[in-house]
Amino acid sequence: MHVRPPWAEPAPAGVLDIAIDPGQAFGTGAHDTTRLCLELLLGLEPGGELMDLGCGSGVLAIAAAKLGWDPVRGVDHELESVEATRENAAANGVEVEVSRFDLLRDGPAPTAPTVVANLLRPLLLAVARAGFRGDVPSRLIISGLLREQADEAAAAFGAHGLQEHARLAGGDWAAVLLCR
Ligand SMILES: C[S@@+](CC[C@H](N)C(=O)[O-])C[C@H]1O[C@@H](n2cnc3c(N)ncnc32)[C@H](O)[C@@H]1O
Repeated sequence: MHVRPPWAEPAPAGVLDIAIDPGQAFGTGAHDTTRLCLELLLGLEPGGELMDLGCGSGVLAIAAAKLGWDPVRGVDHELESVEATRENAAANGVEVEVSRFDLLRDGPAPTAPTVVANLLRPLLLAVARAGFRGDVPSRLIISGLLREQADEAAAAFGAHGLQEHARLAGGDWAAVLLCR
C-alpha cells in the first residue's frame, strides 16, 4: 500500500495507491499511528461494513474501501475532516459515507462489525465508557496510543467482551486489534 500526496508519483501497478490531501484535517498517512492501523487492517479478511471513528483526512476509510470493505462510513467532529474525507474519497474513486459526530457529546459511538479508531487515549477511554450505538464490533482497531497507554486502553474495552488479538508498535506509538 502506498499513501502519497496527490502531486506525488502514483504507486507502481499492483500496489494499492491512495492519494491524500489532508487540507486542514489530520492525516497524511505518514503518522506512525495511521501506519500501524493500516498494517492491522491489511492483516484482516476484508468484507462487510466498516466504521472509521475520527476519520480525519479519510485515509483509513479510503484504504478500507479499496481493500474491500463495503459500505465504509466515517465520523469526525470537525467539519474540515468531514469535507476532506469526502473530497479524498471522491479523488480515490471510492465511496465513504461521512458525517459529523462528536464522540464526547453525541452519545455512544456509531458502530459496524469492523471499527477502526485512531483516537487519543482520553477519547478511546471515553468511547469504552459510553459504548457503541448498536452491536459491539467483532473487530476493533484502536490507536493514537503511546506504547505505555496500550494496556489500559485495551483493557477498557474488555467490558464490551473485546479481547486483545494483536498489537503493533512503531516509534513511541502502539495499535491494538481487539476481537469479540
Ligand atoms: C489521530 S487523528 C486520526 C485521523 C485519521 N483517522 C488517521 O488515522 O490519519 C484523530 C481524529 O479524531 C478526531 N476527533 C478528535 N476528537 C473527536 C471527537 N470528540 N469526536 C469525533 N472525532 C474526534 C480529530 O478531528 C482527528 O481527525
